[in-house]
Amino acid sequence: MKISNICIIGAGKIAHSLIPALIENGYTISTIISRRLASAQKPGALYNIPLIADTVSSIPEHVDCIIIAVPDQQIGAVAEDIANNTTPAPNRAVLHLSGSLNSAILAPVARPGTLTASIHFMQTFSSLNRVPLTGSCAAIECTDDTLGSELVQLCLTLGTQPFQISRDLKTLYHVMGVFLSNFLIGNLQAAETIFQSLQIDAVTFWQLANPIIQATLEHARESGITRALSGPVERGSSGVISDHVNSLIQLQPALLQSYMAQSKHLIEIAKQKAPEKEDLYNEIHKVLHKSG
Ligand SMILES: NC(=O)c1ccc[n+]([C@@H]2O[C@H](COP(=O)([O-])OP(=O)(O)OC[C@H]3O[C@@H](n4cnc5c(N)ncnc54)[C@H](OP(=O)(O)O)[C@@H]3O)[C@@H](O)[C@H]2O)c1
Repeated sequence: MKISNICIIGAGKIAHSLIPALIENGYTISTIISRRLASAQKPGALYNIPLIADTVSSIPEHVDCIIIAVPDQQIGAVAEDIANNTTPAPNRAVLHLSGSLNSAILAPVARPGTLTASIHFMQTFSSLNRVPLTGSCAAIECTDDTLGSELVQLCLTLGTQPFQISRDLKTLYHVMGVFLSNFLIGNLQAAETIFQSLQIDAVTFWQLANPIIQATLEHARESGITRALSGPVERGSSGVISDHVNSLIQLQPALLQSYMAQSKHLIEIAKQKAPEKEDLYNEIHKVLHKSG
C-alpha cells in the first residue's frame, strides 16, 4: 500500500494545518470535501486542490487515502456515507484523526481492499490558523502491518514522531492530552478571572503569569514532576487552604470545585514528595472535605 493521492473530508481546524503540511512534504491532495461547500472552498483555493465538493460521492476512484477530519461524533456517519455512496477502490486507506476513538468506528468502510486506521497528532489546533506539526508526536492505531508502516513513513515525512497505540488504550491516551492541554486552559482561565477581580493596573496578566509558568515547567522537566511541587499543599498549610476556600466562595463558587478537586490530587503528589508530612496533609484533606 502506497499513500500518494489523498482526499480530506472536513475543512476545519486540523485540516488547515494538515493540508499544507502534507502538500509541502510531497503528498498530493486531489480532493477536499466538507459539509458546507464554502468551508471546503477556503483551503481548496488556498492550496489549489483540484476537486472541491460537499458530498462523498465526488471522491474519485484514484484516491488511495481518505482522511476523515470531522468532529468525533460525525466520524461514524461519514464512514457510513462513504460505504453507501462511493465505489470501493482497491488498495485504499481510510483514516480518522480522533484521539479518543479507535479505527473500529470505520468498520462500515472496511471492505475488501480498504484498510482502516487512526492517527492522532498530540497538538492543539484551536483556530483555522496553521499550527506546525513538526516536532509533535503522532499516535498510530492500525492492525495492518503494511498500512502501519506506510503511516509511520507519512508521520516521519511530516516531521512528527510516530508511535503505535493499541485500540483499547486510545481513550485513556486521549485523557492524557486533556490533562496536558485542555485543563491547562481551564487553569489559565481561572487565574485570569481572579487577576481581573484584583484590579491590578501595574502589570498585565501575562507579565505576572509567564515567569511562574516557565519556571514550573523547567523545574518539572529538570527535577521530575513530583519534586517540582511547591505551594501551600506541599508545605502542609491547612490554614492557608482554608483562607483560599473562603475567598473563592466569595468570588466564584464554580472555581471552588476545581480548586478542591485539584488540591486533593496535589495532596497525593505531596505525600509522595514528603511522606513525613502525612499528618499535615491529612489536616488539609479535612479542611477540603468540610468545605465540599
Ligand atoms: N482541534 C484539535 O486540537 C485536534 C487535535 C487533534 C485531533 N483532532 C481531531 O481532528 C478531527 C477534526 O477536529 P477539528 O478540531 O478540526 O474539527 P472542526 O474544526 O470542528 O472541523 C470539522 C470540519 O468537519 C466538517 N464536517 C462536520 N461534519 C461533517 C460531515 N458529516 N461531513 C463532512 N464534513 C463535516 C465541518 O463542517 P463545515 O463544512 O460545516 O465547516 C468542519 O469543517 C476530530 O476527530 C478531532 O478529534 C483535533
